[in-house]
Amino acid sequence: MTRITITGGRPLHGRVQAAGAKNAALPILASTLLGGGECHIANLPQVRDVATMNTLLSLLGASVKQEGTGVVIKADSVQSLEAPYDLVKTMRASVLVLGPLLARFGEAVVSLPGGCAIGPRPVNLHLDGFKKLGATIELEHGYIRAYASKLQGQRIDLEMPTVTGTENLMMAACLANGTTIINNAAMEPEIEDLANFLNARGAKVSGAGTSHIVVEGVSQLHEAEYRVMPDRIETGTFLIAGMVTGGDVEVSQCIPGHLDPLISKLRESGAEVHETSDSIRVKAPAKVQALDVQTCPYPGFPTDLQAQMMAMMCVAEGTSVITENVFEGRFLHVPELQRMGASITVDGARAVVKGVPQLTGAQVMASDLRASAGLILAGLAAEGETQINRVYHLDRGYERIEDKLQSLGAIVHREPASA
Ligand code: EPZ
Repeated sequence: MTRITITGGRPLHGRVQAAGAKNAALPILASTLLGGGECHIANLPQVRDVATMNTLLSLLGASVKQEGTGVVIKADSVQSLEAPYDLVKTMRASVLVLGPLLARFGEAVVSLPGGCAIGPRPVNLHLDGFKKLGATIELEHGYIRAYASKLQGQRIDLEMPTVTGTENLMMAACLANGTTIINNAAMEPEIEDLANFLNARGAKVSGAGTSHIVVEGVSQLHEAEYRVMPDRIETGTFLIAGMVTGGDVEVSQCIPGHLDPLISKLRESGAEVHETSDSIRVKAPAKVQALDVQTCPYPGFPTDLQAQMMAMMCVAEGTSVITENVFEGRFLHVPELQRMGASITVDGARAVVKGVPQLTGAQVMASDLRASAGLILAGLAAEGETQINRVYHLDRGYERIEDKLQSLGAIVHREPASA
């Protein structure tokens, strides 16, 4: 077990480069199971979840070879159709192999992901969609068993705009007979990135990035080269790091248009924000102003930046209200922030954050990927030393975060946690 130690109170200055987007890389990698030749996928973030997905693909029989910051994948020789519990329990996005395996082989066995720190996170909408496409779904002994001689294109009206549900169904529809319509689809940029990759392989997906996606089934896909989009959540995390330390931080090789809701909130809290076609620079005000935030599906304010925003609100001038509308229970970072002197009261989906002049460093515990990021930001702003334990959560989605923070002037290092 390792922990990260931060000595806070220093404004961050400088420029970091956005890594590839974890939440685009995962469905893109899973989609190679649709078969059809060799795929060169570049700009993968060097994070644990990507390594886990590559391990799962290899376990299923695909050939996965490192190629710089990317991989070369050939999935023509898949032997197993089962994603085992031991692996799925470490990463619920493993459920993304269900759609491709079912569409290509007519069968898939995937462990139910189970809950996680940010709520139960069921996959019922994925399974209802597969049934609509003609699959038989059985749940037994904690596994999803899905069968279909040949998926038939249909209209699917999603009850909620589930991100991985939209991705799973879009992938399955690529090889179905006929046309599939996914209505009330999630509109996250990562879904557009997946569709661009699928279309580069000969699929016929239109409307990705809108709530109405149309997929015309094809008989098979072909090889392709692709570069994964930059990570908008990592980008937002570093911009908020600049704000919460009273600094001046620029993130390059990102897509500013993916962060409009955050940029307008940062401006509202007093930041000076400069954008170019592929970079965003944030200069913090002398004192961050409190503001209210509601998380929503894209293009609303992303739930994956809620914990980071809360860290910033802890030292803002005034009182902020943060409402988490996407995941129930995504406030596990609150008690840890309170240990650092934050003044927060939670009532259901609402957290009222009363800004305090200064946080103080403390020993805190990471609970999930984005909560860990929120605690890092609080530690950067706090007076004194903060130790964040269980940083394996952080490593799932942030590439070498302490190196990037050090390059901005932070005093941060990783060390083995004492027993
Ligand atoms: C994706 O998770 C992301 N993960 C999450 O990022 C992100 O927080 C989330 O979308 C929302 O933006 C990946 O892309 C790998 P959902 P996903 O299905 O697809 C409910 C991170 O930190 N729901 O859009 O699992 C669900 O419980 C991670 O990188 C059902 O009820 O999220 C939740 O309340 C964390 N039934 C809401 O919908 C279903 O079948 C949104 O979930 C599916 C979802």
